[in-house]
Amino acid sequence: MADRFLNERRQVMEVAKELERLGLVAVSSGNISVRVGDRKHNLMAITPTSKPYAELTVDEVAVVDYEGEPVEGDLPPSSEMYLHVAIYQARPDVQAVIHTHSIYASVCAVAGWDIPPLVDEVAVYLGGPIKAAQYGFPGTRDLADKAVAALEDRKAILLRNHGMAACGASLTEALAHCRLVERVAQIYVHARNLGAVNVLPADVVEKERTMYLMKLRAQQKG
Ligand code: 13P
Repeated sequence: MADRFLNERRQVMEVAKELERLGLVAVSSGNISVRVGDRKHNLMAITPTSKPYAELTVDEVAVVDYEGEPVEGDLPPSSEMYLHVAIYQARPDVQAVIHTHSIYASVCAVAGWDIPPLVDEVAVYLGGPIKAAQYGFPGTRDLADKAVAALEDRKAILLRNHGMAACGASLTEALAHCRLVERVAQIYVHARNLGAVNVLPADVVEKERTMYLMKLRAQQKG
């Protein structure tokens, strides 16, 4: 009987449907997870693999441990579960991870561009540039390791020739970060097309990073 962690699984389902409404994912692309239960049990609720979000039900949202062993849910977890696991293992501040194939972020990921701090929110909310991770084959621990290496202490990355991933101290925050990455990627693509990319001055970015780090430290303490 799939009845544990229903609140978190419902949240995952709702965020999946919201991402699709926003046009940040399509059909079943991308994946969404949130930590559940006691930290020592290393559990997450995560979207099932290949299930169209329009049809997704709460019971189908999987709960698995960090090896992918099923705990709840009627379907197998996302094929990108190692990406989610690797971020949870590296980052105690992170409660939720979202991976999308949103268009402008994917354009930058295909180009292999790191997105610099073009507008204030990049450093304030995401911690600095949105770096493009080295390419990793989808669904592998290699992709996950390269993603974590590019993420460092920030909140979003581009996955080369693939898409993006963002994390947050809650699912709401991770969703906001996905929207921000897509908006900033769009600005960057257009500014590059105009031939006029002016990044924020280094002293401004440094002040914004300081603000970011203060919040991050509070989130790390939990
Ligand atoms: P899943 O359906 O297995 O989550 O995979 C979707 C995806 O976007 C892979 O990168």
